[in-house]
Amino acid sequence: MTIDRRRFLLRSGLGAVGAFAALSGSGDADADVTLPVSGNDATLGPVPFEGRHQAGILTALPPAAAFLALDVIAEDRSTLTDLFRTVTARARYLTAGGVPPDLGTASPPSDSGTLGADVPADALTVTLGVSSSLFDDRFALATRRPIRLTTMRAFPNDGLNPDWLGGDLMLQLCAGSTDTVLHALRDITRHTRGAMQVRWRMDGFISPPRPTGLPRNHLGFMDGIANPDVTNPKIADQLLWVVKGHGEPAWAVGGSYHVIRLIRMFTEFWDRVSLHVQQATIGRYRASGAPLGMTSYTDIPDYAKDRHGYDVPLTAHMRLANPRTAITEPSRILRRGYNYDLGVDVNGTLNMGLVFNCFQQDLLRQFEATQTRLVDEPLADYIRPFGGGYFFALPGVRNSEDWLGRGLMQA
Ligand code: HEM
Repeated sequence: MTIDRRRFLLRSGLGAVGAFAALSGSGDADADVTLPVSGNDATLGPVPFEGRHQAGILTALPPAAAFLALDVIAEDRSTLTDLFRTVTARARYLTAGGVPPDLGTASPPSDSGTLGADVPADALTVTLGVSSSLFDDRFALATRRPIRLTTMRAFPNDGLNPDWLGGDLMLQLCAGSTDTVLHALRDITRHTRGAMQVRWRMDGFISPPRPTGLPRNHLGFMDGIANPDVTNPKIADQLLWVVKGHGEPAWAVGGSYHVIRLIRMFTEFWDRVSLHVQQATIGRYRASGAPLGMTSYTDIPDYAKDRHGYDVPLTAHMRLANPRTAITEPSRILRRGYNYDLGVDVNGTLNMGLVFNCFQQDLLRQFEATQTRLVDEPLADYIRPFGGGYFFALPGVRNSEDWLGRGLMQA
């Protein structure tokens, strides 16, 4: 009965809303009613997997993400090589999309089926990084470590929790919808079982711009407005990519240092603070995103003119983070932040915050210099970094024969 009714509705070309109206108005007491679902039909196209650099760094931010820190449990170098090859093969397939092989009804299916029979690309990017712990004595890789790759240290006001720290590898998955991210996550972990295991995972999301401009974080402010113009290759080679001539191993050229900081926000506390203080803490108007004293979120603040901080206070987050001086210009970073939401903690307090996520050429000169300028900023009262790590996003996969980590393993 229900099936027939749905077939009829499909045939008659009624959209979801029309279908709902038709069903609820049917007056048929024993009919099943299917509530309409709007939008979100995973129609984004593929992001090219191959290139000099990995996708997921310069790529536009799609709404859903997951960050997985993984421990390598492979015991020798050849198994580690197999692991890199397998992740590459899965990423190549998942980012292109397609019909998974049919293994027959007697076998476990080759695919989880959560995206249906024809896996959509849905703008999925898979970005793989390695941390300094991969260069310990397990795989005899010590001499190949990117020279600036260190272990994330605790900064003042951090409350680091070992459960949310470190990992040998970082897998950043971004896509048009959550189910695409989770499908990729399941596929990759399934094919690499026995060689790596998840140490911690944080899922992230960004919302549509409300009403225009950029998506907002949980503090109500647009986030990601001011980033260096790394679409300009010259700037990207100065700020983003590891390039020749910096003392880095040759295999690392084309990669980028990747910092993740899991930062809890005390939103209940923030919500009790005046709008004036909120805006002074960030340095922008909450509604429009414009720098204080200006009109549009695209306006560039002129701190030389506002030397005493009458418009943008000297302690405002954005001013400390980027004072826009010639000396601080080389410390700029490329931010790709995502919101996270973990429900409530044991006290019933909202447990949400920011996956602070950035890429750069040099950890010390860029992330650490910026973070050091932010120590004890007014915003520090409303946030608490508790996890994350430093990683090195590998150079890209050049062609169909290439694989992530080839340079590292075969150098
Ligand atoms: C929960 C923590 C944080 C929140 C809520 C936050 C929020 C914001 C907001 C609202 C802006 C202004 C809009 C924009 O340009 O995107 C901003 C800018 C910025 N933030 Fe953060 N941020 C946080 C953590 C960090 C951290 C840890 C760093 C680096 C160590 C950082 C570096 C920057 C930079 C570089 C800018 C751009 C400044 C400019 O170029 O004008 N932020 N942040």
